[in-house]
This record gives sequence, structure tokens and C-alpha cells, in this order.
Amino acid sequence: MKEHLLNILRGMGISPHIVKGFSEVPREEFLAKRYSLSLVYEDVVLVSYDDGEEFSTSSQPSLMALFMEWVGVKEGMRVLEIGGGTGYNAAVMGKIVGKKGLVVSVEYSSEICEFAQENLNRLGIENVVMKCGDGYVGAPEFSPFDAVVVTVGVDEIPHTWFEQLRERGRVVAPINLISSGRQPAFLFEKRNDYLVGHFKLDTRFIKASGMLGNLVERNESKLKKNRSLEKVLPIPMVRARNFLELIHLLTRRLTIIDGRFYYVGDEGFACFEEDSMLIYGNLDELVALFQEWKGCGYRSFEELVLHVGYGTPSHIYCTT
Ligand SMILES: C[S@@+](CC[C@H](N)C(=O)[O-])C[C@H]1O[C@@H](n2cnc3c(N)ncnc32)[C@H](O)[C@@H]1O
Repeated sequence: MKEHLLNILRGMGISPHIVKGFSEVPREEFLAKRYSLSLVYEDVVLVSYDDGEEFSTSSQPSLMALFMEWVGVKEGMRVLEIGGGTGYNAAVMGKIVGKKGLVVSVEYSSEICEFAQENLNRLGIENVVMKCGDGYVGAPEFSPFDAVVVTVGVDEIPHTWFEQLRERGRVVAPINLISSGRQPAFLFEKRNDYLVGHFKLDTRFIKASGMLGNLVERNESKLKKNRSLEKVLPIPMVRARNFLELIHLLTRRLTIIDGRFYYVGDEGFACFEEDSMLIYGNLDELVALFQEWKGCGYRSFEELVLHVGYGTPSHIYCTT
């Protein structure tokens, strides 16, 4: 049964050391519900925990394998996983990083987190640490990490993970785009003050709870509509959605009030109309991003390279 799944991974070109990790972990041991073994080793999402209040899924193995491949999980690495669930993915990564490495997995629900810890204990997996709480804070006590693997849809990549990642370390994350409802996964690499990266594929993970799922509310609380109109920048109507998605990804400062999108700056705000952006106050970062985007032909995030700044302005680079 397991061989069927391993063959799927091999067929996708997944590296042998990652396939080996999957071969060493029994997925059925991480599922609170009973499934036939043939279903357990299908390449599908399975409900792993559901007690009527708390809910978790075991993600599609091939997608998890791709995430591991993209961030380059290998022996000796220190990996931070966000969205630990019942511990299966963390256990696979634990096998890959081996005794010299460490996996720290953060799970929001205390019930699910405890269930994951029991699963890991029962299987004698000692190099995976479950941390119960909001993944937003990461695990500074175990940093720096070589990689961050996010298995829940998050509104942003918070500064905490950036700080806990080593230089040239990588992060893979599905990001909930509030302007379109899409959940694209991105692969980023830390380079100085930036996460540099690009779109990989569209996903449909559970949306995060807590601080990883309330960016709109946090930004809304910071919005002060006390500035006068400075300028109006026209945006080609069919491309407006592209810009909103980019602004979310690059600045993490978007919110929505009564169906209208706002950029919430420190020294002003912008309000988005169908074909223009109304700028109130001083929004140098936003205006500079707009010019870069225009220079790249108003393209969508799929065709651009993103330099997401942490404590420094973000930039857009054209791929060609
Ligand atoms: C798709 S499941 C993860 C699957 C898991 N990696 C596995 O191998 O079974 C997503 C998990 O993210 C958890 N979650 C939701 N919000 C979170 C947050 N803010 N921090 C950490 N975990 C969170 C959910 O409780 C859920 O268990």
C-alpha cells in the first residue's frame, strides 16, 4: 500500500532522501479516524482529527513532498513547521533531517497538539518538538532555522519567522489573498533584509486561526482616515486585482471595509477604486511599488519576482 504512494512521489521526481522519509513513517498512526490502508496511502488530503470542535487534516503527501523539495529539507537541518496538525508531516521531516537535525512544529489547537505529541512519542520520534500555540510567534528558543514549512493558509509571513530564519534559509507558505480569495503558495529565500521569491502553485489549505488569520482586522484597527487627498493614480481596470494582490504580498498592509480595499500606511492611507488609487497623505513605498509594477507592464504576481522587505521597503522585479 505504502509503495503505491512512494511510486507516485518517485514519478514526480521527488529526491530519494525525501521519498525515504515518507517510507519510514506510517501515516495511519497519525489519523484519529479509521481509514482503510489503501485510502491512507492514496495521494489525498484526509481528515486527521475532528472531535466536533477542533478540526485538522493530513495534507496531500505529494504537496508536502514538493514543499520539502523546494526548501531543500535534508540531513542535519533545523526546520520550523507551522500548522503541526497530528504530526505526520513533521515526523517525515524528522526522519529526513535525522539525529543531527531538529523539527519544531507549532500547532494552534492544544487538543490536536497533544494528540500529535502522543503519536510522536508512541513511534519513538525524538527529534521532533511539538509546540502548542499560535504559529505567529514561531519558536525563537530553537532558532535559527534553515527552513520554515507552512502547512496552513496564512495571511502573511510575519517578521518573527523572518528573524528566526538564517541567511539564505527558505520558507514555503500558502498565503490567503484577501482581495481575490486565492491561496497561492510562494517559495522565498532570505537575503539580507528581504525575502526574495516567487509563486509556485495554487493551494487550498485550512485557513489559519489567531494572528496568522486576522491581518485584515489588525490593519483595520491601524487605519486613521485623517489625511487629505494628495493624488490620484490611474490603474488599468482589468489589472487592478493584480495590484491589490501584490500590495497584500509585498506590504502586508491591506484591509477591507464595507467592500472597499484600503492600504494602511504609517503616514497616510490609500483607497482603491475600480480604476484608480486615491492617495491620502505620504505613501512613498506604495507609490514606488506602483511605478515598479507599471515598469513591469502591470503583470500579475505569477510573472514577477518579489523582494519582500522586513524593516525596509519592498520591491518588484520583472522576471524578463
Ligand atoms: C492542514 S493542517 C496541518 C497538517 C499537518 N502538517 C500534518 O502533517 O498533519 C493545518 C493545521 O494548522 C493548525 N493551525 C491553524 N491556525 C494555526 C496557527 N495560527 N498556528 C499554528 N497552527 C495553526 C490547525 O489547527 C491545523 O491542525
